[in-house]
Amino acid sequence: MNFQLTEEQEMLRKMIRDFAENEVAPTAEERDEEERFDREIFDQMAELGLTGIPWPEEYGGAGMDYVAYCIAVEELSRVCASTGVTLSAHTSLAGWPIYTFGTEEQKQKFLRPMAEGKKMGAYGLTEPQSGSDAGGMKTTAKLDGDEYVINGSKIFITNGGEAEIYVVFAVTDPEKGAKGTTAFIVEKGTPGFSFGKKERKLGIRSSPTLEIIFENCRVPKENVLGEVGEGFKVAMMTLDGGRNGIAAQAVGIAQGALDAAVDYAKERKQFGKPIAAQQGIGFKIADMATKVEAARLLTYQAAWLESEGKPYGKQSAMSKLFAGDIAMEVTTDAVQVFGGYGYTKDYPVERYMRDAKITQIYEGTQEIQRLVISRMVTK
Ligand code: CAA
Repeated sequence: MNFQLTEEQEMLRKMIRDFAENEVAPTAEERDEEERFDREIFDQMAELGLTGIPWPEEYGGAGMDYVAYCIAVEELSRVCASTGVTLSAHTSLAGWPIYTFGTEEQKQKFLRPMAEGKKMGAYGLTEPQSGSDAGGMKTTAKLDGDEYVINGSKIFITNGGEAEIYVVFAVTDPEKGAKGTTAFIVEKGTPGFSFGKKERKLGIRSSPTLEIIFENCRVPKENVLGEVGEGFKVAMMTLDGGRNGIAAQAVGIAQGALDAAVDYAKERKQFGKPIAAQQGIGFKIADMATKVEAARLLTYQAAWLESEGKPYGKQSAMSKLFAGDIAMEVTTDAVQVFGGYGYTKDYPVERYMRDAKITQIYEGTQEIQRLVISRMVTK
């Protein structure tokens, strides 16, 4: 057993940490306040080769593994969770299904420009009436000649409006339930494809979350992703890996909050000594650090399993469940360490606490992770 990151992974971490601290962190608070997405940051990530970390070079990727990808999401989220999820949705939710189920032509046409960062990806599964019960979707796609005509809407779409390439799921055979669902690739600008309400959110406020709408939107048959009728499987398998990306985001948020709390606790003096040297705070920091470390290990383990081609669905759900919960706990404790100051916008910990909450909700709520894990453990 080897817990050592490779030299390449260590170098990647250092490179991303420099980029995150110098280019992403300085505007994180302002972008959060203004609910402003900055495409330039995505473009900079593209220049650094971060927009296609796990895809082979033949598709414009960096040819690295999923541990490297998790390190990237973690380091970005350590300073700005919105930037972390931009990369995560782009890579895990849009890139992964195209890489895994796409034809060679689809990979060259869609995955390559995404990996090169010329285009951004998004994923559309959730609908107003179907969240946890993803199989209950109502969006339809009917074959008409050589085209499918899509009607319906999807909500809570991360990267919505900004992304150029959307992996969306629609019912092609209503009689067959989950087996009557198909995945499609839809490009921004396709007639009948438009953007609806932009959500105003508690956290990850500089990541755009939009409704996407299909009104007689015609997409060519060639844009079917995977087999007709296999869409639910594509959606579920995509989430298996996506959840690990969210775990990495949660680890990053928790680490960012822990680092801020440690720095503050060493500086802040009460009763004649730094609060870090007082047991109430020192022990809290010990618990926070232990939780972050455990969450990171689970997260990297799931990513390693996927990279090795071994089953990883259970570990991925576990990493998301555990890391999401500890991110919420650690960020709440970080606010506590800062006391009254932590509750103000003068310090970043209130943002970390707001950002952490979503990791317990999206890509399957914690309750859905428990459902997935319990089914796998007991089957
Ligand atoms: N891999 C492969 N196949 C899978 C699978 C997986 N992980 N999970 C399910 N399937 C298959 C099953 O084998 C079954 O196929 P068969 O009938 O051939 O056996 C079929 O899919 C139906 O499966 P279930 O009976 O398990 O389906 P279910 O209705 O009970 O639902 C669920 C399962 C786990 C609850 C699922 O609906 C689910 O994951 N819900 C949560 C949805 C979710 O995570 N949404 C997040 C949206 S994306 C988001 O948040 C993105 C963002 O913007 C960041």
